[in-house]
Amino acid sequence: MKNFTFSNRIRKLAEIAGPCNTMADIGTDHALLPIFMLKEGLCKKAIACDINESPLAKAALDVSEAEIDSALVDLRLGNGLERLQPGECDTIVIAGMGGLLIADILENGKKIFEKPCRLIMQPNTCRPELRTYLAENGFEISDESASEDEGHTYLFITAEYTGVKRTIDFKESVLGTKLQDKPEDFKIYCAELKEKYERKLDGLRMSQQDVSEEIQKAELILKEVRL
Ligand SMILES: C[S@@+](CC[C@H](N)C(=O)[O-])C[C@H]1O[C@@H](n2cnc3c(N)ncnc32)[C@H](O)[C@@H]1O
Repeated sequence: MKNFTFSNRIRKLAEIAGPCNTMADIGTDHALLPIFMLKEGLCKKAIACDINESPLAKAALDVSEAEIDSALVDLRLGNGLERLQPGECDTIVIAGMGGLLIADILENGKKIFEKPCRLIMQPNTCRPELRTYLAENGFEISDESASEDEGHTYLFITAEYTGVKRTIDFKESVLGTKLQDKPEDFKIYCAELKEKYERKLDGLRMSQQDVSEEIQKAELILKEVRL
């Protein structure tokens, strides 16, 4: 039996995703999340999807070496949500990818949300763009969390498809509306934003172009995150 190491990020994803019946992990790589959730009894079955064959081969090996019933993990090769049918799973996780790729996967796989299904995302980049996509395409964010692990800040977004489309402003796209209720998480998230927007503002102030609008936006965020 292999000795698995599960990062705090994987543990946090599992805590948010579970307990559930069938979870689908899109871009599963080693299938660490499905393995952890099954080991901990946080899901009854898992569908582990990846676009590439080599991660799925590693996933198959890891599943066979984990102390779980390997029949409970269904490994599927495919792009995004294309190998899922509506109603097959009650929870979908798309983690460890850029926000634009996550939005693209949702855009191409909208039919899955004909049946109720919770969506958990952990975008590494382009978080404002992902929040904007979700709002404009009928997904409602019901929860957000942030955590820090080995020098990285991770954001976790839970959303449901409601079909109600709306536009959000720049401030909401950057800050969201849910983290503010969680002082510890908000502090972690703001520390990262502060560093990012201070660097951005320094760059903008040296620009020879008219970047006054960009400067205003950066100053707006910095005002919000100076806790
Ligand atoms: C950085 S890993 C993240 C693995 C895991 N989800 C995690 O959070 O640790 C990204 C994985 O997503 C897969 N991937 C990238 N684009 C994909 C797509 N459009 N559909 C399915 N899988 C994808 C890659 O092959 C890779 O295994």
